[in-house]
Amino acid sequence: MGIEWDHPAIEPGQFVMVKPNSAYDPLLRRPFGIYSVSKGKGMELLYKVVGRGTAIMAGLAPGEKVDVLGPLGNFFPAPRRGKEVLMVAGGIGVASLKIFAERHKNSTLIYGARTKVEARLAGDIKKLGVRTIITTEDGSAGVKGLVTDVLKKEMARDSIVYACGPMAMLKAVSKISGEADVKCLVSLERSMACGVGACLGCAVKTLERGMGCNHNDAAKTLKMVCADGPVFDATAIDWENL
Ligand SMILES: Cc1cc2nc3c(=O)[nH]c(=O)nc-3n(C[C@H](O)[C@H](O)[C@H](O)COP(=O)(O)OP(=O)(O)OC[C@H]3O[C@@H](n4cnc5c(N)ncnc54)[C@H](O)[C@@H]3O)c2cc1C
Ligand code: FES
Repeated sequence: MGIEWDHPAIEPGQFVMVKPNSAYDPLLRRPFGIYSVSKGKGMELLYKVVGRGTAIMAGLAPGEKVDVLGPLGNFFPAPRRGKEVLMVAGGIGVASLKIFAERHKNSTLIYGARTKVEARLAGDIKKLGVRTIITTEDGSAGVKGLVTDVLKKEMARDSIVYACGPMAMLKAVSKISGEADVKCLVSLERSMACGVGACLGCAVKTLERGMGCNHNDAAKTLKMVCADGPVFDATAIDWENL
């Protein structure tokens, strides 16, 4: 979906909260990664219809107005010079990596799709000239298997991993990166109500100590995906207790 919007500067991995109408259905805005931007013109979102809000978005006619809050959240930091960049994406998670890919074309995308049809979602990044390795669960396109199988083969000592996709995939990518002592940044997804750190609805458990946190569980502290993230160092996340 293209949205005309005179937006401020946008960093790779940031997101917007979108409400497809001015009515109370849906009541809350929905979060979407920013897929592409065009200065002075607006932005594009790449989204999958999963429920009420996205179904209404899909039914909008050209020219209708939507309510947009953003850009929100932190972003994927640029890699240090000399690092071999591996992007790992699963399903619609690829949307949040597109702007990063535009700025780091000399990198590799390992993209996991369920089927050949879903594999097409990596097409725009491939067209940028980014080396793209597709995996599908059913073998209908690319390598049959999971992104993690390919990641293990591609990872080198000077790699850095940028990942976005389902939680189970991110957990596995984090484990593989940790075992290889490779830095891994993950963009997390949580259902969000406010998008700005006010409702505490998108909390994740991390292993970082919070300010003033001195009870028995002091090593673990909650962070808000919308305001502290969505991008986190994978080693900071308490993957076993999400
Ligand atoms: C930072 C961020 C970036 C995102 N970027 C994109 C994107 O670029 N493209 C895209 O298609 N989607 C993206 N999502 C997911 C998107 O926000 C949800 O799919 C959307 O909110 C669903 O709204 P809905 O009203 O259609 O579904 P609902 O009616 O609210 O829910 C339908 C079903 O989807 C589940 N669901 C809702 N939100 C999520 C979620 N965040 N994660 C997992 N399951 C969920 C619900 O539990 C329910 O089972 C992103 C989420 C976050 C947090
Ligand atoms: S969505 Fe409200 S705190 Fe994150």
